[in-house]
Amino acid sequence: MTELLTIGEIAERTGVATSALRFYESKGLVTSSRTDGNQRRFDRSAIRVISIIRAAQAVGISLDEIAGALAELPKGRTPTRADWAKMSRRWRDRLDAQINELAALREDLTDCIGCGCLSLKSCALYNPKDWASKNGAGPRYLMGDRRPS
Ligand code: FES
Repeated sequence: MTELLTIGEIAERTGVATSALRFYESKGLVTSSRTDGNQRRFDRSAIRVISIIRAAQAVGISLDEIAGALAELPKGRTPTRADWAKMSRRWRDRLDAQINELAALREDLTDCIGCGCLSLKSCALYNPKDWASKNGAGPRYLMGDRRPS
C-alpha cells in the first residue's frame, strides 16, 4: 500500500511552495489523486520527482527539458532504479556540457574570454582586434571556441 501525502506535507518535505506543486501538476510533471472532498493526495514517490525537478531547475535546466526527461518515466507505478538510470542517461550529455561550461567559467574568469571588451592585457594576445567575434556573439572562449595558441 503506497503512502499518500497531502499537498502541505509534500511542500514541507520538498521545500517547494504549494502553488509551484499545483503548477507542476498542471504541466503534467507530477500527478495526484483526489479525496471525496476533492483534496489532492500525492504518492510519497512524488517527493523524488519534485526534488529532481527542483535540483534540475537550480542548475538552469528548463521545465520543458525536465518534462521531456520525466516523460521517460513509467506512468501509474513508482519508478525503479532502472527507470531513473534510463532518464539520467538521457541527461548525462546535457549535464556534462553544463559542467564543462561551469568549469570553464570558474577557470577562465581571470583570462580573456573573447567577449569583445578588449579590457585585459591577455585580450591583446588572445583576441586581437576582437578576432573572436568572427565566430559570432557572446564570450566565445566560454562558449567552447578555442583561444589561439
Ligand atoms: S576579456 Fe573581453 S575580449 Fe578579452
